[in-house]
Parts: sequence; structure tokens; C-alpha cells
Amino acid sequence: MHVVGARPNFIKAAPVVRALSARNGCRQLIVHTGQHYDAEMSDIFFRQLGLPQPDVNLEVGSGNHAVQTAQIMMRFENVVRKNKLNLVLVYGDVNSTVAAALVCTKMGIPVGHVEAGLRSFDRSMPEEINRVLTDAISNLLLVSEPSGVENLRRESIDGDRVQLVGNVMIDTLARELVESKKLRVAQEFGMVPKDYALLTIHRPSNVDDPNVLERLLCLFREFSLDVPVIFSVHPRTRRSAEHAGCSDLLRPEHGWITIPPMAYRENLSLMAEARMVITDSGGMQEETTFLRVPCLTLRWNTERPITVEKGTSRLVGNDPNLIRTAFEEVLSGNWPTGQDIPMWDGKAADRIAEVIARWAKQ
Ligand code: UD1
Repeated sequence: MHVVGARPNFIKAAPVVRALSARNGCRQLIVHTGQHYDAEMSDIFFRQLGLPQPDVNLEVGSGNHAVQTAQIMMRFENVVRKNKLNLVLVYGDVNSTVAAALVCTKMGIPVGHVEAGLRSFDRSMPEEINRVLTDAISNLLLVSEPSGVENLRRESIDGDRVQLVGNVMIDTLARELVESKKLRVAQEFGMVPKDYALLTIHRPSNVDDPNVLERLLCLFREFSLDVPVIFSVHPRTRRSAEHAGCSDLLRPEHGWITIPPMAYRENLSLMAEARMVITDSGGMQEETTFLRVPCLTLRWNTERPITVEKGTSRLVGNDPNLIRTAFEEVLSGNWPTGQDIPMWDGKAADRIAEVIARWAKQ
């Protein structure tokens, strides 16, 4: 059984479902927790990525952390009870991930965690808590980059249950890139390829404090005088801007284009053609590294250090001076071009299927 709930989960699960089907034809079920429910945050991802429709939708929707996590646990427990399960796979670091892992562990059902071992060492991030707890109780830890293996070892999680398999998000990217590029989304917005910045922000640390959000939006609007900016606005960010009374900053004007969250292929097309990406998304840090597109990461830390050490990402926090310096460096052409990352090769899901087949025989 695969449990998915939020946008990045859909992208990670799609290749794993496909690889398991191709390999051994084992019966698979998909549970959608309903953490993300808007058509543009959910349905379209299933369609574009060829992810089978969920067998069950828990329809939990939004809520604060305790409510959302508890609702998922209560509803998911009933689903687990009705099915005879050999393994439950959970993905990434969202509330749906930890909620499902907790339920299964308490019911004696083995859990596999895809994207295990990542650590930002910043426990003020909800995702970090989700990662640490999920890894502590998972039976199979499927790791995307070497730092993850090291982090788990430090937490005394080691041995055969830890497997470095590579990055499934890159599997999806590698599969979708050619079709995505044909969409020429930037041109549809009147942009010239390699002559615009793509912006996304949604982390609580950047959007929940009205002062921080307003300062960032003003800065990015200034950037749009130098290079056009396409801003893909996450629902959380739009809602925060409305609460903060600064939603007028989202109004488009020359060089400043705001758009709703894009579907997978459209977003990939925009990333691939961008001069730079400015984001606080973990997934986009990885995707820009693969695409060799400069990425200004609006965070003080990252659980994906390889994107900074070998990739095209730099941590700039939410300090306007640091962000501006990095922005100007990209424009002057002074930016690392990045390297290929081992096992980010489009075959991570095949390796996961292999690990699961071996594990099942034990
Ligand atoms: C969640 C994940 C985050 C991930 C992000 C990807 C957690 C703790 N956070 O953050 O790690 O990077 O997904 O997008 O799990 N909303 C809608 N429609 C939707 C979904 C959400 O309008 O379909 C709005 C609601 O107002 C909601 C808010 O967005 O309250 C936040 O949604 P939520 O799922 O709680 O967290 P994200 O910020 O999306």
C-alpha cells in the first residue's frame, strides 16, 4: 500500500508504483489522505504522472498539525484494519507520512520510507519532526543521497534496512522532461527562455510572518525590474498575503507575473527554461540541480546538502541582502554549473522495487 497526501508525494510515488507493477505484479493499493485536495494541487498530478486513481481517499483536508495528523491516523487505521498488508510505503516528510507510519507501526505492519535519512537539523520545521519520527519507526529506509545514510547511522539506524537507492523525484523528472519542454509555458506567458526568474514560496518561516512575507514580496518585485519574475503562488502563500493585508503585492504588473500553482509538467517546463529559480521548496532544490539551473534557496538550512555541495543551489535564507547578492551573481554569470549526482539517474524506483523484492523473500 502506498500512502500519499501532498503534492510532492504524488511525484515520488508515481515511478515506484510503475516499477513495482513492472517487476512482480504484486497487488498495490493507493491511499490518498486528502491533505492536498484542490484540483490543481492533486488531481492533475495523478493524471499527468499516470498515477492510478486512489483506492481510498481519506479526505482529511486542511487543519492545524494536531488535527490534520490525528484525522489521518483515525481514518487510516480503519483502512489498514480492512486490508491484509505486507508493506506500507510512505513518502517524504509531510504530515501524511508520519501519520501513516505511526498507525502501521502500532498495528505491526512493516513500513518503508521513501526519501529516508534527510535532516535539516532544524526542529522548528514541521517536516524535520516528521522525518525523524518516520525514520525511527520504519522497517525499510530508502535513501536518496549519501548524507541520509550518515544521518541514520548517527541515530543508530543501520544495517540492511538502510538502502541508498537514489532519488525517485528525479525518476519522474527524467521521464517527463522531453514532453514538458514541448509545452513552452514561459513563451505562453510572454517570456523569453533563459531570461526570467521562477519564484515559489510556501514555507511557514517565509510566509506566516506578515513582515517577512511583505519584505520578500517587495524585494522580488524589485527584481522584476531587472529580470521578469513568474511567481507561482501556493494557496498557503495567497492566504497569508490576504491575512497580512499585502495581497496587492500579488497583483501582476510589467515584469511581475503571478500565476496559480502549476501542474507538474507546466512547472517543469518553467523550471527548465528559467535563468534562475528562487524557492523554498525542497523538491525544486533537487530538480534545479538535475537541470543545472541556478537556485536561490530561501532557507537557512537544507536537508538536501548535496544540492549545495555539488549542485546549483545556494542557501540565502530570507535576508534581502544575501538574496540580492546571489541574484546579481546569477545575472553576472558567476554561478556554479553543478555536477551529476550519483543515482539521480531515473532508475531509483527500479532499485526500490529490487530492494522490496529481496526484503519480501527474507
Ligand atoms: C505541505 C507540507 C510541506 C510540503 C508542501 C508542498 C506538511 C507539514 N507540509 O505544506 O512539507 O512542502 O505540502 O506543497 O505536511 N491548501 C489549499 N488547497 C490544498 C492544500 C492546501 O488551499 O489543496 C491551503 C490551505 O489553506 C491549508 C494550507 O494550504 O491550510 C496549507 O496546506 P498544508 O497541507 O497544511 O501544508 P502545505 O503548506 O501545503
